[in-house]
Amino acid sequence: MTQRLFFDCDTGIDDSVALLYLLARADVDLLGIASTAGNVPVDVVTTNNLSWLELCGRAEIPVHVGSATPLVADLMTTEDTHGPLGVGHAELPTPTITASHVDAADAWIEASRAHDGELVGLVTGPLTSLATAVRRDPALPSRMRRLVIMGGAFHTHGNTTPTSEWNVAVDPEAAAEVFAAFGTAGAPEPIVCALDLTEQVVMTPDHVVRLAAASGSTPLECPDPGDERGLRSVADNEIIRHLTDALRFYFEFHHDHDEGYIAHLHDPFAAMVALNPDLVTTIPARVGVELTGTLTRGMTVADERWMSPLGPNARIATATDLDSVFDDLIETIGTYARALVRI
Ligand code: RIB
Ligand code: CA
Repeated sequence: MTQRLFFDCDTGIDDSVALLYLLARADVDLLGIASTAGNVPVDVVTTNNLSWLELCGRAEIPVHVGSATPLVADLMTTEDTHGPLGVGHAELPTPTITASHVDAADAWIEASRAHDGELVGLVTGPLTSLATAVRRDPALPSRMRRLVIMGGAFHTHGNTTPTSEWNVAVDPEAAAEVFAAFGTAGAPEPIVCALDLTEQVVMTPDHVVRLAAASGSTPLECPDPGDERGLRSVADNEIIRHLTDALRFYFEFHHDHDEGYIAHLHDPFAAMVALNPDLVTTIPARVGVELTGTLTRGMTVADERWMSPLGPNARIATATDLDSVFDDLIETIGTYARALVRI
């Protein structure tokens, strides 16, 4: 069955992998892509989305531009994590296609109205665009079939502050408004893929080799911490070449932060959950976001024991089968990249 999905991202290295995974799924009708400021400024996010779509021959998918800044906070970006242009060492071709004139928030609203009750929403960046859409149309949540959010940290250390995860830290007010709006009457409880689980989705150089092999790309390249910094891929498959260059930057970043020569694939994991919620075990919770804490601003707080008089407004993903996640990711993107070469 075709799933109608709207993708909101801050592309980003792992957002790029998520986008390729969605494009590779023949059972996905990707209605549009909202570019939200986060990893890099919104114009860079937009260019990256347009570049990937044009590379994959999918120029028909509209890309929508979100606000240049969060709802309240000043914009915070992280080029040190995702590279100066948000795609690591990859040098994507400058796109010749342009963004839609419909902004990201209106695109959310239009997609929900056009596919009332059917729309699957996936957010892998800050929640600025979605919160803006809900402000403009408070009935939006009730028209969603499903919402999956990559964000938050509940029983694990934050990756932006000790208590906050990046997507929530960039725009805590937006996250707070989205959690308050969903889980109400008629609106689905978002499935939250937080760091607790997404930091278990650990991509290694061996996975890069498997991905290249699945695509038929040559030569097979295994990034290594001993390689020259920023070594560029010479893979003959263009998608694999850009992906390898992007992921190498992510490997280098985590290596430099003593997390190993690895990459946490937060966003593609959330994309897989958006298409198959049975992939994860979840627990119901009432989730709120701290906005005024001196040390804890941007912290996602989950009431998992019904201390709050309010019912659950989220389902937190707590477990998955990691091997099957990587098997699916590699098979899906590898097969897609192989087929693209033949166009
Ligand atoms: O905390 C990880 C999240 O923040 C991922 O979505 C990554 O792309 C960044 O947006
Ligand atoms: Ca992201």
